[in-house]
Amino acid sequence: MANPAKKGAVYYSNEAYSNINLYLSRNKPSKVFVLVDSNTHGHCVAKFLSQVEEPSNFEIIEIPAGEEHKTLETCNGVWNALSELGADRKSLLINLGGGVVTDLGGFVACTFKRGISYINVPTTLLAMVDASVGGKTGVDLGNLKNQIGVISEPEMVLIDSIYLQSLPKNEMRSGLAEVLKHGLIKDEAYWEKVSNLSNLDFTHLDEIIKRSVEIKSEVVTQDPLEKNIRKTLNYGHTLGHAIESHFLTHNSKPKLLHGEAVAAGMVLATHISQRLKNFPEEKLNRISSKIFDIYGKIEIDENDLENILALMKFDKKNEHGKINFVLLKDIGAPEIDCEVPNKNIYEAFDFYKTA
Ligand code: GLY
Repeated sequence: MANPAKKGAVYYSNEAYSNINLYLSRNKPSKVFVLVDSNTHGHCVAKFLSQVEEPSNFEIIEIPAGEEHKTLETCNGVWNALSELGADRKSLLINLGGGVVTDLGGFVACTFKRGISYINVPTTLLAMVDASVGGKTGVDLGNLKNQIGVISEPEMVLIDSIYLQSLPKNEMRSGLAEVLKHGLIKDEAYWEKVSNLSNLDFTHLDEIIKRSVEIKSEVVTQDPLEKNIRKTLNYGHTLGHAIESHFLTHNSKPKLLHGEAVAAGMVLATHISQRLKNFPEEKLNRISSKIFDIYGKIEIDENDLENILALMKFDKKNEHGKINFVLLKDIGAPEIDCEVPNKNIYEAFDFYKTA
């Protein structure tokens, strides 16, 4: 069995449960808390508890589901619950849920009594391949994504694709965007494979999750604090996050999942890459047509555009007031800290609308 003491290690399926049981018997937390949202409380808790030893001592803390609840107010509720239920520094928080639960729960754990241990058990594809790996924790500030948080690794990450059985199709698609991103920034053969999955039929789901986690882990190990190469994991996110934030605050707009916004952001970033970095035009056309096939197009009009551009100034990769894009010279050949004139951003949106 792998050494469970290695922080941030990712374990799969049965090995995951034997590692958490080993962790619990070795570390003997004073109390164990399981953070869930209203979805995972119904769909995942029973499955999870059936695999761990002495679950009758675990306390469940529930938060409401949805990005709009990824706030300090929700953290306040969880901090209070931990306090009232007698959590101390030797307590353990297990985050059982999607990206909101793992990001917010990680932040709560890192700040409660200056830090208690936490474990992530992601239950969405997005959280399995991205959010729960790499130690990024945090919450939104109003409509601005992930502005408050810390980077601190969980004790371990447990991935069991059984939780995906109850996941709605649009959530699977949202996670797939991060999988596609891993192909684009790191591995052309992987991009070809995952962009051609027929009808989102995830027959090879476990294999895909493992390859994506491997790509992300390789990058994060080299640059845990995102000083350089980790920025490549933000491909498509500069505009993607701005689009997501814009849609979050406009009630008249349809609800947009993170991956749906990132998919649009990747088409836009690939167009900009073609113009500024000579990214091959034929690949741009293939990538955008694949992404449109899977995600369709988000309706973005002139009024949206100005606000989306304004929101980019809150991107966490910005330095000294400069907006820094990740662009591609080719699939698997990213370049970080690229300045992009507004003219290219407008042209990219034109391409997005008319392609
Ligand atoms: N989601 C990007 C990262 O973890 O760096």
